[in-house]
Amino acid sequence: MDVAGIATPALLVDLDAMEFNLREMADFFAHKPCKLRPHFKNHKVPLLAWKQLRAGATGITCATLREAEILVHHGVENILIANEIAGDSKAQYLAELSRCASVVVAVDNCSSIKDLARAQRNGKSQIAVVVDIDIGLGRCGVRPGEEALQLAKCAAGEGLRVRGLMGYDGHLQVLPASLERDELVRRGSESLVRSAALIQAEGIPVSIVSTGGTGTYAVSGEYAGITDIQAGSYLLMDTLYVERGSCFRRSLTVLATIISMNRDGHAVVDCGVKEISGERGLSAVKNMPDVHLTALHAEHGLLELQGDLKSTLKIGDRIELWVRYSDATVSLHSSMYGVRHGQIETVFQIEH
Ligand SMILES: Cc1ncc(COP(=O)(O)O)c(C=O)c1O
Repeated sequence: MDVAGIATPALLVDLDAMEFNLREMADFFAHKPCKLRPHFKNHKVPLLAWKQLRAGATGITCATLREAEILVHHGVENILIANEIAGDSKAQYLAELSRCASVVVAVDNCSSIKDLARAQRNGKSQIAVVVDIDIGLGRCGVRPGEEALQLAKCAAGEGLRVRGLMGYDGHLQVLPASLERDELVRRGSESLVRSAALIQAEGIPVSIVSTGGTGTYAVSGEYAGITDIQAGSYLLMDTLYVERGSCFRRSLTVLATIISMNRDGHAVVDCGVKEISGERGLSAVKNMPDVHLTALHAEHGLLELQGDLKSTLKIGDRIELWVRYSDATVSLHSSMYGVRHGQIETVFQIEH
């Protein structure tokens, strides 16, 4: 089907760009001891997770128990929930999922560890964990070193299987590339590797030391002792990352139609915050530098037109908005149209 035939607003992915990103990242990890464990939350498409696995990924990272459930349901066997979960019902569900696949969850406190241990006993299954270390993001995680060791001991003492540790350097992801930034990434990796050594020295085997994202993989992926990288955005790419300098190509747009043009030099499209995230800034219009998105309402996008386009654009014309924040935009849609040379080649189901 031609792109012209689909109803708007619609999420489009440029297949050439996405496949380029898939190959580029796979090539980087192809001959390294460190492997890619790509994050699922950026696309939420099981088929794309499988493309990443076939391209060499060691497993899949996700952010929630629901995402882990979707992955298990689609046959993925090696899953890292790079996030904490809390509460008895989630712990119980994790115990059940752990019977179907290798699911590892991050922990950063003894209270949740005890909940997981109880669920494991009740569910008669083995729950596996990584100790989450705060390497500067200031979100979840314990301090590296002694605190990490104590938590690993707490988890092992409660009978959980400690697989290793993780720490996400989210605060460094969109910093422009520089020697200083790279040094900060290395320091984060170093604190993880040192904490891993402390934990190993206490007789707790460590097989996972996981970190990194699209902005930092090239540095942490080279750091001795880091076993896997959780990058996710690289596959579809956000405009924000591209602006900071990245080898990956933007592939994601929202197709919208002009529905009103009653003010001179302005137009309104059928795409608002229910279809595209404006949280990290307003989108640029693909291939139309003289058209600017100036505001997003719930179902409307307001455009300012300059130059010749003022007179040539008309009601019913279509534009594409580059997605600045893929995570938050993808989760607003249930399908994503795979486009090549103006034709829809495939439709990806986004799972929620
Ligand atoms: C814990 C964790 N790991 C990995 C990622 C993926 O990072 P990126 O999308 O920058 O590749 C994220 C993204 O927010 C994250 O929260």
